[in-house]
Amino acid sequence: MTVDFAALRAHLDTSDMLGKVIGFPAQMESAWKIGSDFAPRVEALRSKSFERVVVCGMGGSAIGGDLARAFLGDRARVPILSCRDYHLPANLAKGALAIVSSYSGNTGETLSAYDAARQHGATLVAITSGGELAARCERDHVPACIIPGGMPPRSAIGFSLLPMLQVLRAGGVAVFEDHEYREALDVARERCDAYAPARRDNAATEMAQQLHRHTPFIYAAPGLLEGVARRWSCQMNENAKTLAHFAFFPELDHNEIVGWEVGEHLLAHAVVISLEDREDHPMTRRQADAGLSLMEPYAARVERLETPGGGRLARMVALMLLGDFTSVYLAYLNDVDPTPVKKIDALKQQLAGEQ
Ligand code: F6R
Repeated sequence: MTVDFAALRAHLDTSDMLGKVIGFPAQMESAWKIGSDFAPRVEALRSKSFERVVVCGMGGSAIGGDLARAFLGDRARVPILSCRDYHLPANLAKGALAIVSSYSGNTGETLSAYDAARQHGATLVAITSGGELAARCERDHVPACIIPGGMPPRSAIGFSLLPMLQVLRAGGVAVFEDHEYREALDVARERCDAYAPARRDNAATEMAQQLHRHTPFIYAAPGLLEGVARRWSCQMNENAKTLAHFAFFPELDHNEIVGWEVGEHLLAHAVVISLEDREDHPMTRRQADAGLSLMEPYAARVERLETPGGGRLARMVALMLLGDFTSVYLAYLNDVDPTPVKKIDALKQQLAGEQ
């Protein structure tokens, strides 16, 4: 059956989430410029020897840290960790560069982690569009990279990732080359064109149709696609309003694999999406081959997606965009507007008075 995605878009996508996904290359350019302008403000950090970087943030703002860690790999001089919690342990904060990332600047967990990082003597840098986080940074003379507001945080992923990379490079914590960004930008343009609603042979509309009335189980190896797997899952949740699950080889071959046995009603509606990259450890690839073949008889379908050629950032962006587009098309098939996240809003409102 041919689905008219353009008509569904006109009917359902009242706040134009698809337009924001299609606009990702322009967002990358703007984010890169903002990061470049901000970088000199953190160059003095080079004189400090951090023991680790901790990215404090939640949801769409936290994922920039996951992508940065995955892209940089061994090119980060010290480990890059995440804190997705109110509580930031003193032994993590001490000696750390804490990058506090909140798109709105008003997320309770992130503000609490900011206070803890400060109290335990971490060096702070923030990325935000404003809110209470920007106010606290001003009060405390903490450098804050201000990004444009007014978008759903998850659609501002370029603004949370690229300035963070520039902070890490300017602060002497990691190395990468400008041409890696330019290559990723070219790939983003190419992919946004290939996944546009009017395009035939469109991997994103096809994937959305395969996922319709099914539950995605997204698997990857730890490494380049770790953040992308989580991003796929979160985008399915927030845009398509559906459950999704992610886990990693080889660990899942030691536990989750056994669960692929009982509960036909779920398994028969599970679509396995294996995200793969040529730099995955060869034995992890073997573990994926073996694990996926055990799932195959039970799952509705097993899809193996390999990153295209090119550098690490380009490969990561290419597969992330396939997930972003798929999640919006899946929202259309699910007859929902991709933008509102009423449950997140309600929870934030409910807890606002309690911080
Ligand atoms: C909504 C979204 C959420 C938020 C999260 C934290 O689009 O992506 O996951 O990112 O609730 O809020 P911020 O990013 O404003 O700190």
